[in-house]
Amino acid sequence: MTVKTMHTPEVQALLKKVAGLDNDGGNERVKQIVHRLMHDIFQIVEDFDVTPEEFWSAVYYVNGLGQNGEAPLLAPGLGMDHYLDIRMDAEDAEAGLTGGTPRTIEGPLYVAGAPISDGFARMDDGTDTDSETAIITGRVTDENDQPIAKALVDIWHANSKGGYSYFDPSQSEYNLRRRIRTDADGRYTARTIIPSGYGCPPEGSTQTLLNLLGRHGRRPAHIHYFISAPGYRHLTTQINLAGDEYTYDDFAFATRDDLVVEAHRIDDPAEAEQYGLNGPFNKLVFDVQLLSTEATDQQKRHPRQRALEGESA
Ligand code: DHB
Ligand code: FE
Repeated sequence: MTVKTMHTPEVQALLKKVAGLDNDGGNERVKQIVHRLMHDIFQIVEDFDVTPEEFWSAVYYVNGLGQNGEAPLLAPGLGMDHYLDIRMDAEDAEAGLTGGTPRTIEGPLYVAGAPISDGFARMDDGTDTDSETAIITGRVTDENDQPIAKALVDIWHANSKGGYSYFDPSQSEYNLRRRIRTDADGRYTARTIIPSGYGCPPEGSTQTLLNLLGRHGRRPAHIHYFISAPGYRHLTTQINLAGDEYTYDDFAFATRDDLVVEAHRIDDPAEAEQYGLNGPFNKLVFDVQLLSTEATDQQKRHPRQRALEGESA
């Protein structure tokens, strides 16, 4: 039987002191949130009769998470990124904002400053011999289906082993990361490879916790996008490839019906030639509709820590 101490004046006073509620300095919002957070943790200890051994194993889990840098990897696995999307969707619905391509999570593996080009880019460095060639193309339009020229389409994805350049030091700089400006018809085209699904590092902190939850740490093959243009809302989204074992079983909860895209195999040499290819390839079509906005803060991705962001790349 678990002892009840949360209600006592001693514990309530302790929580207030912990959160600095009676101090003049500091930040009021941080105080309120830390007060609630520590209250809820104390409450969990009480309700589940958490033993000192369990408590300290949790502390050292957090320490390990910091050491291997996996906090931003764990967050999506615990549904945090998707939950923030649910809240932004609800905000939009309440404001009567409808239409446009749906958002979904950014994930932790973006790198700022990828090479930029007009209309077309080759994204792969040609070294991934296990991979299949892909052409990804689509049009960026406004809510009236009019093309948006010079929209910036920032694409990043994993290689055939599920690894991302920069985080996987075996890949060349900015491999599978490009920024493409749409042409006058709103079109972007990328020559790249079909990515493989991603899996959390098997020995890492994220997978350790997922194992205790009886969960896998797999994502379907997917391709990330930031799409932006002056006068339009910035869009963070991704496409998840149809037919992957994990398309509808994504540990990061990013899959949305409108964002599942099929890779069509094209054997027609004439169509291959159109893209400068001389063999069969996979074609993925992803059109994007942006919503207009006057608000300049909505035209940019939200601020957060990102690799190489703010550096002159
Ligand atoms: C994670 C990895 C991804 O590639 C992604 O898109 C989302 C989340 C992760 O490791 O948590
Ligand atoms: Fe990803």
